[in-house]
Amino acid sequence: MQNFGLEIWGDDNFLIREGQLALNYARCPSLLEITQTIRERGYRGPLLLRFPHLIKKQIASLFDAFHSAMEEFEYQGKFHAVFPLKVNQFPNFVHSLIRVATPYGYGLEAGSKGELIIAMSETPMGAPITVNGFKDKEMIALCFTAAKMGHNITVTIEGLGELQTIIEVNREFNKESITTVTPKIGVRIRLHSSGIGSWAKSGGYSSKFGLTSTELLEAFELLQRSKLLGQLSMVHFHIGSQMSEIAPLKKALREAGNIYTDLKNRGAFALSAINIGGGLTVEYSQHSHAQERNYSLKEFANDVVFLMQEIAKNKGVETPDIFTESGRYIAASHSVLIAPVLELFSQEYHQKSLRLKEDNPPLIQELNDLFETINRTNAREYLHDALDHMESLLTLFDLGYIDLEDRSNTEILANLIIKKAITLLKDEDTDELKRLQNRIQEKYLVNFSAFESLPDFWGLSQHFPVMPLDRLDTKPTRPASLWDITCDSDGEIGFNPDLPLYLHDIDVTKDEYFLAFFLTGAYQEVLGMKHNLFTHPTEVIVNFDEAGEMHLDDLIEAQNLMDILDDLEYETGKMDKSLKQKIEESPLIDEEEKRVLLGKLYLYLSENSYLKTIQATYDL
Ligand SMILES: Cc1ncc(COP(=O)(O)O)c(C=O)c1O
Repeated sequence: MQNFGLEIWGDDNFLIREGQLALNYARCPSLLEITQTIRERGYRGPLLLRFPHLIKKQIASLFDAFHSAMEEFEYQGKFHAVFPLKVNQFPNFVHSLIRVATPYGYGLEAGSKGELIIAMSETPMGAPITVNGFKDKEMIALCFTAAKMGHNITVTIEGLGELQTIIEVNREFNKESITTVTPKIGVRIRLHSSGIGSWAKSGGYSSKFGLTSTELLEAFELLQRSKLLGQLSMVHFHIGSQMSEIAPLKKALREAGNIYTDLKNRGAFALSAINIGGGLTVEYSQHSHAQERNYSLKEFANDVVFLMQEIAKNKGVETPDIFTESGRYIAASHSVLIAPVLELFSQEYHQKSLRLKEDNPPLIQELNDLFETINRTNAREYLHDALDHMESLLTLFDLGYIDLEDRSNTEILANLIIKKAITLLKDEDTDELKRLQNRIQEKYLVNFSAFESLPDFWGLSQHFPVMPLDRLDTKPTRPASLWDITCDSDGEIGFNPDLPLYLHDIDVTKDEYFLAFFLTGAYQEVLGMKHNLFTHPTEVIVNFDEAGEMHLDDLIEAQNLMDILDDLEYETGKMDKSLKQKIEESPLIDEEEKRVLLGKLYLYLSENSYLKTIQATYDL
């Protein structure tokens, strides 16, 4: 797996050139070159690179797929899309998104007051805003304010209570106004169809969201009675994120389509759109046998358009406009997290660490002979002998017959033999060899926090593609486990023999080795936790001008130590004083040293929590 499954998850966004991973765009800069340029400016620790051209690519492909399907089926309705802010609210992402999305009339979806404020200020006038999730009176009043500003806003109701509040706010808001403005109203429906996978519970009867058939009929009548039926414009559903199969979507579309046409035939004259939510899958897998998606974007768009057309035709109503709220599909590929490897933790199993004696216990001597004479023909037999000898030698240690040096020699020799045997038998794919890879895995200590940067790995075992930035013309041979720098054993991406990751054998005291984690642009950033007080990494936007020149823009440095503490509501001014006072009053330090220590302390406080160096001769 020298290309780390790039053809499975990479979507032609990257290519390998002269052993380095490069962007498949403009002049194809290598990611290592971009990383080095930023590091030369003094930024250390993990880096988050954002690529707006990849956001644009995803938006273009979504619109193209729906436009082609509509053309093919001669569909009369229009296609619209909004980006659900919950997927990534970070300003460098949102600003990049709006910049590339404006020509498409692409809008934003908000699920909370904070997100609504972002949507109200950032959505270009005319582009749609949809508002989902539970709302109180203030939030509904904010939606009315957006409508008064001239925004094209649809408030989706999640329950009858919300509709009552809309009616009340409508009355109050428009009482003394010269022009009556009411946002469009959408209804989120509770389908009996549910999605598939980790997020299936967003749909189905027991879902947290949406109106049942009974509530829907009551909502319809309430809208009629309060003369707001003219505002009911959208039927909305969302059956769950990362829908790995197409079948549940088709089922949900039939159900939602029939609800739409029923309401329309019942007299919902202004109803004109069906919003199918998100759910489009991203392929995160690096191994072909573990692929996560069984359909293409074309199939997805064709199914939506065809089914809506068919249902509308059968029920004699006009085909609705189609809205999507795909988030993961739009945002995931745009960011790459790059983190330096700080150390390898199996270096102790190096031949140079052997402490062989003049006179070794016979089994150790035999282990050494096995190591020196193992070859392709005897590899399996010698491997079994080595494992057997190791068991016996460890028992001898427990019984007090051999010493710590003998035990260390045993561990080193046995591991070296296992490593050699695995290399010699690499064409044989047996369970035994797979299991043994676990024994000889290298632990790569990586300068990042899985809790902060890959929270879905921690919470949901979500896999994110990972690969080194260079040496890609050399076969990686070390079964790898990745350790983050948090003091938490959950911060480990363990070696999985069924989905193995092999990395290069490196000496971090001499060479830099960077790992890149891909498809981290959806959900990870805001869900990231400050566990151990590691914060959002330093980030930069990688833009390209029309001539194809690269520009590294809007760099935001990871928070410094005092800012992190300030966020936790520590009184950092007081802490600062206390630290200073403790140094100044310490009887253990002389005046000159106090001055030096204070200088150093202030330097440390201005830096972030990621590590600078462990033992390497260069800065990390
Ligand atoms: C209502 C709604 N719309 C859209 C989305 C985005 O889904 P995805 O990121 O899978 O496209 C979600 C995600 O949970 C959602 O709840």
